[in-house]
Amino acid sequence: RELTGEVEFENVDFGYNPDKIVLHDINMYAKPGQKIAFVGSTGAGKTTITNLINRFYDIQDGKIRYDNINIGKIKKPDLRRSLGIVLQDTHLFTGTVMDNIRYGKLDATDEECIKAAKLANAHDFIKRLPDGYNTVLTGDGANLSQGQRQLLAIARAAVADPPALILDEATSSIDTRTEAMVSKGMDALMAGRTSFVIAHRLSTVKDADCIMVMEQGRIIERGTHDQLIDMKGRYYQLYTG
Ligand code: GTP
Ligand code: MG
Repeated sequence: RELTGEVEFENVDFGYNPDKIVLHDINMYAKPGQKIAFVGSTGAGKTTITNLINRFYDIQDGKIRYDNINIGKIKKPDLRRSLGIVLQDTHLFTGTVMDNIRYGKLDATDEECIKAAKLANAHDFIKRLPDGYNTVLTGDGANLSQGQRQLLAIARAAVADPPALILDEATSSIDTRTEAMVSKGMDALMAGRTSFVIAHRLSTVKDADCIMVMEQGRIIERGTHDQLIDMKGRYYQLYTG
């Protein structure tokens, strides 16, 4: 069955160790196609929430539903695979650029991989590599810049064509031009898919349908950028520095 990208958390509690809860009573609802952003200081629980959306861990209490199917406590690797992920440190393996993109969907044709790379805004830099799509990457893509690795991660997610996505924005600095290329690719990838974005720059979440402000494992404020600014609470503080 095809998923639409609807995701719901109901009263979710979670701890990496059962005796130390790190997420408390998380409630949220994402309509198909919405962009949900998580902001908050280090250790607030942003990555942990996305780990749960991914079902990397079982939850202690509550429900996680995709399209009304409660997947909170059952292992459903096929459902998990239906999410695309662009993590901070993308794992690239020794192999061609084409095979690294294809990893997002193992039966993808070369044409599908190239189409995904074009959508991800990665095609131009790939064409300039010594052997284009046949260029062999060294372990973990060490022969690419960080921005280029991110563009490949976006292409890899795009080839899977998932209904929902998790984007964990890179913290380490890439130059402004590369950053613009990456954010253009990410915008193209997010269009029409439910997207959960962990943003380290508040400027990239301004257009989110809902921004979740997290602190110590709780969502303490939520709303659009304008609503949160009007609230003059934690988000306002973060934004105005
Ligand atoms: P930044 O990425 O630094 O901005 O923080 P974050 O908001 O993503 O926080 P994260 O979800 O990583 O951490 C939330 C809490 O869970 C913190 O208290 C972490 O110490 C703890 N935590 C995170 N990952 C693990 C893990 O793999 N094992 C254990 N035991 N604790 C973890
Ligand atoms: Mg994190």
